[in-house]
Amino acid sequence: MHKTIDLSALDPALAQHFLQCSVAPRPIAFASTIDAAGHVNLSPFSFFNLFSTAPPILIFSPNRRLRDGTNKHTYFNCKETNEVVINMVDFDMAEQMSLTSCEYPHGVNEFVKAGFTEVKSTKVKPPRVLEAKVSFECKINQIIELGVNGGSGNLIICEVILMHVCDSLLGENGKIDPTRTNWLARLGEDWYVKSSIENMFILPKPNVKLGVGVDAIPSPVKALNRLSGNELGRLGNITLLPTDEEVAIFLSHNQNSDLIGLAQYLLSINEVNEAWKAILGWGR
Ligand SMILES: Cc1cc2nc3c(=O)[nH]c(=O)nc-3n(C[C@H](O)[C@H](O)[C@H](O)COP(=O)(O)O)c2cc1C
Repeated sequence: MHKTIDLSALDPALAQHFLQCSVAPRPIAFASTIDAAGHVNLSPFSFFNLFSTAPPILIFSPNRRLRDGTNKHTYFNCKETNEVVINMVDFDMAEQMSLTSCEYPHGVNEFVKAGFTEVKSTKVKPPRVLEAKVSFECKINQIIELGVNGGSGNLIICEVILMHVCDSLLGENGKIDPTRTNWLARLGEDWYVKSSIENMFILPKPNVKLGVGVDAIPSPVKALNRLSGNELGRLGNITLLPTDEEVAIFLSHNQNSDLIGLAQYLLSINEVNEAWKAILGWGR
């Protein structure tokens, strides 16, 4: 059963709840901006992602405040100076990052309030955050205002012109090793999640060649309802099925086995070809 929701019929705060808890986890753009008079501002925005790699484009959205439809300092600064540094937030920065989201009056520098360290940027005026493991110096190509009501987004379309990466993230090949990251991401309400190693798993990239598809699995096997969606998907991603002869040899070694259970075990250790032999041998 699913609850069906017409967002337009909901109170805006409740609509926001359903959207934010569903489109999650969201990475956090920790945006450092500066106004025309030189006041520095630092605020987090989880309506944020990467949209293009060539050119490298990041978009985040300081929305109009839900309660009164007014815009935020970050939005005004972006409009005034067309520059931003987007710093990435990891678990080590969580509490201080959260502190910067308080609505300090215009002109208050949240680097100071939250105890972050300013580092002069190379190509833009706003400083970057020393404690951030990655920072992007960006010029703003375009701002798209989506409405005038509370909750309306303002898409800040940013082109990365320089990137800074902390050595601690780099593996021996000089690239970022995902297992060394501990990125923070926002769920909904007061919940966050971090990309720590215990939460990570490897899903091999889909074949460059075409996978045989879940529809290649014999219907009687699917009708047993023993294979999970992940197991079906892993089976469907193989390029070439074992031959009848290979299946026969496999069966001669596994005569009294629960072949579906065996296939599940083989899938769990990534022996997909062997798992297929068990699947095709079932019922023979
Ligand atoms: C983790 C986190 C993510 C947030 N994401 C957004 C967001 O995507 N858009 C938004 O308008 N406000 C967001 N906020 C709230 C702003 O950070 C907050 O309104 C802040 O005071 C804006 O500061 P400014 O007026 O100095 O720009 C977020 C707050 C937190 C703690």
